[in-house]
Amino acid sequence: MSGRIPREFIDELLVRVDIVDLIDSHVPLKKTGTNYVARCPFHTEKTPSFSVNRNKQFFHCFGCGASGNAISFLMDFSHLDFVEAVEDLAAFAGIDVPRESLGYQAESKKDDLNSLYVVMEQVAAFYVEQLRVSPKAIDYLKARGIKGEIARDFMLGYAPDKWGALSGRFSQKLLIEAGVMVRKDDGQAYDRFRGRIMFPIRDKRARIIGFGGRVLDDSLPKYLNSPETSLFHKGKEVYGLYELLQKNSKPQRILIVEGYMDVIALAQYGIDYAVAALGTAASQAHLDLLFRFSSELVFCFDGDRAGREAAWRAIASVFPSLKGGRQIRIMLLPQNHDPDSLVREEGLDKFTERIQSAQVLSDYFFEHFSKDLKLSEMEGRSNLRNEALSYLKQLPIGAFREMMFEKLSGLAKQYILDNEAILAQKKQVKKHQIKTGRLSLPSFVIALLLQNPKFIEIVEQKEIDWNQLEFEGVERFKSILHMITDKKPTNYGMLLEAYRDHADEGIVKKLASFDLLIPDDGTEAEFSDALNGLLKQGREAGIARLQAKAQSKGLDSHEQETLIKMLANK
Ligand code: GTP
Ligand code: MN
Repeated sequence: MSGRIPREFIDELLVRVDIVDLIDSHVPLKKTGTNYVARCPFHTEKTPSFSVNRNKQFFHCFGCGASGNAISFLMDFSHLDFVEAVEDLAAFAGIDVPRESLGYQAESKKDDLNSLYVVMEQVAAFYVEQLRVSPKAIDYLKARGIKGEIARDFMLGYAPDKWGALSGRFSQKLLIEAGVMVRKDDGQAYDRFRGRIMFPIRDKRARIIGFGGRVLDDSLPKYLNSPETSLFHKGKEVYGLYELLQKNSKPQRILIVEGYMDVIALAQYGIDYAVAALGTAASQAHLDLLFRFSSELVFCFDGDRAGREAAWRAIASVFPSLKGGRQIRIMLLPQNHDPDSLVREEGLDKFTERIQSAQVLSDYFFEHFSKDLKLSEMEGRSNLRNEALSYLKQLPIGAFREMMFEKLSGLAKQYILDNEAILAQKKQVKKHQIKTGRLSLPSFVIALLLQNPKFIEIVEQKEIDWNQLEFEGVERFKSILHMITDKKPTNYGMLLEAYRDHADEGIVKKLASFDLLIPDDGTEAEFSDALNGLLKQGREAGIARLQAKAQSKGLDSHEQETLIKMLANK
């Protein structure tokens, strides 16, 4: 049984491994100046904008915005979760991953989960066995055109039409915990799934975490899913991912459909890259999961009104996870068809053509707006602007966002010139220019510090009284200083590790990626100067504010004292 990986080990690992060697072994790098470059492995490009910096132990792509340290690289490149990436990195360095020993409680909790996985496996095997001896269920699958081979791949089974088929065979307590039995108020328990075709839901490591069950006739409910259990979290898992990865661990695209039967029929017809969200709309967590395996997701919806509405809801929910290098396309099916019925009617080639010609999200997005809003009318134009902007503002900063803003302003420009979209676009351009060196002074100092965490010593020597300083972002400045003092990272890659999933992760990454255009041997002097400038500016702003207050409202005794001190320091 394995426990947590100690934090110190991860830090040590990041010191031991050189990110240049690591990435070079996956994507051959070329040296240019202080950086190593390549064509970005995370998006398609002709000229290299992916760069790796040895001093910072950091990679960054100017094209799609991908960035991070050695661990992040492995997570993105090899589609690993955090722990898997640490394990891989340790293997690369040729060292073993130590584990903190678990307390008794944590240990027994893990054991509990393990026994749930075991019981789920046994229950699934039991359902498979039951299918073999149930002509009714076999006939149903045959009538739906499901081949034996596919039934085997997806481990389809049958839950007999009995209230107590499972009890007696396995531990009732575990069956209830696993969600396949239900306890009544009187303490008795019965089988949740009865007289249903069973679809086991596996996680990407092949473990059975839940089931879906379909009736054989038209009784209700048509489908029954496992409840949320300690194994099964509907919002985070999709049906068919394990089976998909068995066929292809890096699919060019993943198709997201609505039903179990759709996934299975598509696989049978050779489209073995479809998954289904489990009776819910695709969530942010679903998308993050799927984008780990492919950079292109195709949403498949019914062509009717409900389907189009579902498409629109999905778009709203996917917006925040969009960035350059990730593509989403929307495919609407003809009326009265689902993927299952359509692929059977049209066959593989036609269906594949439909997938390939599915509309890219940005086109679908703008078409929806232009169609529903009369652009030639004043009101229509401002609606387009406002509604589209409210979506576009959610996009993470990056090339994709800029492209969408450009499109919006292009679309609106046909009708009006002074519009918010163009202003927003200009702002974007301005932001872009900052990247090449024009940062505000506080941001410039932070950026330099992030890129050279050892400069913390220069800050510490100054014994700064932060309460006397006023400048934009002073709180964030203090918090970053604190983090650096606390973690003592030897390079930026390590510092970044401390910011993984932290609220400031985005801004820290952004500032750290600015090209400050300072020659290496000049950075320390530059930092000292900038820091002195910032301190001076901060003190003067503080003094000015207090003096202004003294003239208007007057100062209390504490403020007076501070002002005197500050004037003396000056
Ligand atoms: P078939 O009729 O077997 O072809 O199913 P389908 O996949 O075409 O079903 P449908 O389009 O009606 O539903 C799509 C998905 O929604 C299903 O795969 C289920 O995940 C879910 N679903 C449908 N009906 C129910 C229901 O009655 N209860 C629950 N919980 N989920 C359902
Ligand atoms: Mn169907």
